[in-house]
Amino acid sequence: MDKRPIGIFDSGLGGLSAVKTVLAHLPNEDVIYFGDSGRAPYGTRSEKTIEQYAKEDIEFLEKFDCKLIMAACGTVSSVAKNAISHVKVPFVEVVKPASAAAVKATKNNKIGVMGTSATINSGSYIEEIAKFNKDIDVCGVSCPLLVSLVENNWIDSDNYIAKEIIKRYLEPLMQKGVDTIILGCTHFPHLAPIISQVIGEEITLIDTGYEAGMKAKEILLSQDISNDAAHKGDAVYYVSDRTQNFSNIANTLLGTDISDKAKFVDIK
Ligand code: DGL
Repeated sequence: MDKRPIGIFDSGLGGLSAVKTVLAHLPNEDVIYFGDSGRAPYGTRSEKTIEQYAKEDIEFLEKFDCKLIMAACGTVSSVAKNAISHVKVPFVEVVKPASAAAVKATKNNKIGVMGTSATINSGSYIEEIAKFNKDIDVCGVSCPLLVSLVENNWIDSDNYIAKEIIKRYLEPLMQKGVDTIILGCTHFPHLAPIISQVIGEEITLIDTGYEAGMKAKEILLSQDISNDAAHKGDAVYYVSDRTQNFSNIANTLLGTDISDKAKFVDIK
């Protein structure tokens, strides 16, 4: 038994797709979340800046003596290799578990990846999928505007503008005839209902936040570091900008009011 919390971070609200999974599937675990909303987005920045931000985010979570740290961020997982390599506790990123799920799901060996510019330029998903099967055709599209849609809560299924933007981004994937799409940025699962409306329910969408959350569960069980089964887990949310902006949208994304659990932190 290990009572220490799980630390999860992202540039902002995206990582809540992983938090949702952890709260549902690991109900005895405490979570410390860090959303770097003051410095989001990450996905349009240089490798050097992303490495620096990831290093600081990890150092912040290490102060809480976390038993596992998760980069619930496709951009950090794809680009910040150096920062990630220094984590001393069990670590979960999103590229490996999401790629494994996509390889399992595809029937026609054509997988699409929607990600931030940094993620798509890194080729991380292509590289990871090739480790499973070199014959799978992977087509990536950078979708930077989708991060802003989520950060501004433009995620309702009848949002006309969100739908038009998504339609544009999905065009190359539709032309390729992919049957599976990795939502390679953790912000995107929050837009999954609109993405499905546009591309069709028959296309499998892989939720990076969900896959990373389930990977964390697998590690806690295999390393026997779960919390006490009688303990009711809780989460605290640290953000590097106005907590009110964050919690207003987080309430919708998580389906529960977290306003009194959101705290400001000056990451510097
Ligand atoms: N949610 C992050 C990702 O998975 C970062 C998005 C951003 O800040 O650009 O890539």
